[in-house]
Amino acid sequence: MSRSVVVLGIQWGDEGKGKVVDLLTEDCAAVVRFQGGHNAGHTLVIDGQKTVLHLVPSGILRDSVQCLIGSGVVVSPDALIGELQTLEQAGITARDRLVISPGCPVILSSHIALDQARERARGSDAIGTTGRGIGPAYEDKVARRGIRLGELGNVDTCSERVEELVEYHNFLLTQRFGAEPVDVSECVSRIPAWRDRLSPMMGDVSGMLEAYSNAKSNVLFEGAQGALLDIDHGTYPFVTSSNTIAGAAASGGGTGPLAFDAVIGVIKAYATRVGAGPFPTELHETVGAHLAERGNEFGATTGRPRRCGWFDAVLARRACWLNSASGLCVTKLDVLDGLSELAICVGYRRGGEVLDDPPWDSAGLAECEPIYEYLPGWVERTGSVRRLEALPAAARTYLDRLEELLGVPVDIISTGPDRDDTMVLRDPFQ
Ligand code: GDP
Ligand code: IMO
Ligand code: MG
Repeated sequence: MSRSVVVLGIQWGDEGKGKVVDLLTEDCAAVVRFQGGHNAGHTLVIDGQKTVLHLVPSGILRDSVQCLIGSGVVVSPDALIGELQTLEQAGITARDRLVISPGCPVILSSHIALDQARERARGSDAIGTTGRGIGPAYEDKVARRGIRLGELGNVDTCSERVEELVEYHNFLLTQRFGAEPVDVSECVSRIPAWRDRLSPMMGDVSGMLEAYSNAKSNVLFEGAQGALLDIDHGTYPFVTSSNTIAGAAASGGGTGPLAFDAVIGVIKAYATRVGAGPFPTELHETVGAHLAERGNEFGATTGRPRRCGWFDAVLARRACWLNSASGLCVTKLDVLDGLSELAICVGYRRGGEVLDDPPWDSAGLAECEPIYEYLPGWVERTGSVRRLEALPAAARTYLDRLEELLGVPVDIISTGPDRDDTMVLRDPFQ
């Protein structure tokens, strides 16, 4: 029997989605990215060799897997062409196995300039975006003035549309932000090369998903970012500009909401966040430094240090609900090795009130003091442990407690960056 499975982040991104997607695609016909853009950085490690992907789906290291980019993804042609080149230099030919929807909105250099100008203008209120033009590209899509990849096919009309759009961006850049304008003719001049490189890879992603369904093939939908960065349900405005939750796998991939058999929520055994915004369980002292160092918590896209803290079960429980999570994949358990005591946030105190659910807004969340439950840590090494029975009792108790607090079973446990450092207790494709 075939299965369609969504794999996505339950926190603020960087949960280890890329690793898990790569692992689970062994028996898949296709992997589909459905939202976000090259703000994502998904790390795959196979036999010690590391590959970081930004736009290309994390099934690319398996020769038999077709990789699809649905129309919910914003595509920078320059970034995509560059990523394909990097992969080719590493001996991975992605071109033959990649199909991109012509409906994907295009990120131009003027989107990047606008993203960075907006951030500068926000000063101390900056969101800490990846500076990749993601927000402005989604703005143009929703405003119905964006360029879509399929338009590259007609160079003349596309050139006119790009010229008009970049002139509009330049008006904002110069008049609103006092920034330098972008060179319009340089933007237009790239169109023929983009067409030549990308047109051969464009195809009907939604139609392919229907064909896979009819052929009873397994398909995996790969999320980027995480539920707490969702534009509607995350810590607005400190979010990304797309819906990152499971509902977006249907709309952004090109299928319907009944298409999915399982949703795997990937969670780190603790919490991290890159960029600004409320983070109730953030740790600044020794434990935070331990997590950052042991977890090597530096962004895979921008190299920025990630903020670290204890696991927040209040936010994670809401994220599981938002995603209809049917199973959890807990990653980076090994990073907790050596801590004598662990804390899990099980509620918030705000003013005189105790809250079981997160407040609706970021300002409210910033006022919340976490209520912690303490569990014993372990001194044994869990790094690369691949059998549940071999985990220290305290680690199993910790996992059981997460499962209980979130009301979702732990199906997969990851104990190291390598593909093989994983325990699959229940395979979502079985
Ligand atoms: P993604 O954006 O969700 O795909 O995650 P990233 O690749 O940005 O960040 C996750 C980081 O943790 C990467 O460097 C992974 O190689 C690493 N990683 C994934 N799982 C584990 C694990 O179980 N233990 C450790 N120590 N590292 C892991
Ligand atoms: P993956 O897929 C972690 C964060 C940025 C910033 C906010 C908005 O690797 O988990 P944007 O450039 O999207 O407008 O930035 O979202 N952000 C991520 N944080 N992992 C990511 O992707 C992220 N993509 C965006 O740091 O706070
Ligand atoms: Mg990442």
